[in-house]
Amino acid sequence: MFIENLKIRSFCNLKDLNLKFNPNLNVFSGNNAQGKTNIIEAIYYLNKSKSFRKKKDQDLIQWNKNIFFLKGDIVNNNDIHQISILFQDFKKEIKINNKKITKQNQVFNLFHCVIFSPKDLHILDKDPTIRRYFINLLISQINEKYLYHLKKYHKTLLSRNKILIDKRSFFKKDKILESLDNILVKEGVEVIKIRNEVINELNKIVSGFYKEILPTKDLFEVKYKPFIFSDNLEKEFYDKLYKYKEYELRRGFTLVGPHKDDLIFSFKGVNIGNFGSRGQKKMAAIAIRFGELYYIYKKTEKFPILLLDDMFSELDQEKKRNFTRLLNNQIQMFITTTNLEFLRNMGFANYSFFSVKDGDVLKNEEKR
Ligand SMILES: Nc1ncnc2c1ncn2[C@@H]1O[C@H](COP(=O)(O)OP(=O)(O)OP(=O)(O)O)[C@@H](O)[C@H]1O
Ligand SMILES: [Mg+2]
Repeated sequence: MFIENLKIRSFCNLKDLNLKFNPNLNVFSGNNAQGKTNIIEAIYYLNKSKSFRKKKDQDLIQWNKNIFFLKGDIVNNNDIHQISILFQDFKKEIKINNKKITKQNQVFNLFHCVIFSPKDLHILDKDPTIRRYFINLLISQINEKYLYHLKKYHKTLLSRNKILIDKRSFFKKDKILESLDNILVKEGVEVIKIRNEVINELNKIVSGFYKEILPTKDLFEVKYKPFIFSDNLEKEFYDKLYKYKEYELRRGFTLVGPHKDDLIFSFKGVNIGNFGSRGQKKMAAIAIRFGELYYIYKKTEKFPILLLDDMFSELDQEKKRNFTRLLNNQIQMFITTTNLEFLRNMGFANYSFFSVKDGDVLKNEEKR
């Protein structure tokens, strides 16, 4: 599976571009602030209809324009599907083969992408929000059931928070809270169960990968830290809600539930987020992305497109080689770099080279 070409119209600083891609490797080179990452962003957006840099859709429109448009052809064996996204008036219209779609999963049925970027280091930050975002996005791309439960859980959570902060009497509140708690527990437990399964599987992939790239005999692990973990999740959830109810009524929001879960990264049993060196954090961030890549492959039997934004500047020579050794030649890759030096030692056989300047692609050639 690969993306064959991409049409870009008034997206960030990019000129109107019609790009034809190599099915294996595409290298975007240029100085800082020329638009390399914006091209990666466009591919990512075509897949997930959101920015990987957490930019608002509106901010992706070129500053003096009022729409942006992306269109790409995805090749799967002998099938070609066209995906297009038009964003205007704060709304986006996504089409597959010229037919409007309503669910993002229809795009995920055609392709996936995984991004490695310097921002990944944030996955080890103190705040667990980014780790929950990572795991929610990963699972919901390949498991519609999870997305259903997660959406229902969040909807119930919002209603429950509204009631908690409401000025009505405690007696009236208690009746409504009781019925909301039932849904919250039912949906929350489903979310936890699926997270548990997925993170266990992910851990196996990630710890294996870590040994290969370093290489080391010591164990690197990704562990799920749910807010409840007994054999009877329902009962434990109800008990926690009961225990915290008075406090929640005072605070005005829900304090317990899977919206408080976390992921822990550890090396030799030590939490890397809290105690790891910068190098260990970097490796952990790369390992988790590899986990994502191979987990998606395992579930869909198709390799996701790999977007490597400024990745190779982050690794030393030996790790770079180990890293590329682990990449399968069925994976289509997009690499941005300010420094072409690294390509020389990598032994890539055949790739397309794009020189990016001031939002434009100046040179585009096949290298063999
Ligand atoms: N909506 C927009 N309209 C016009 N220009 C934008 C918009 N959003 C971002 N830009 C500009 O696009 C330029 C290129 O950004 P990009 O992140 O792609 O650079 P880059 O080539 O990856 O640079 P670096 O090597 O530093 O990572 C930036 O100068 C940025 O200000
Ligand atoms: Mg960049």
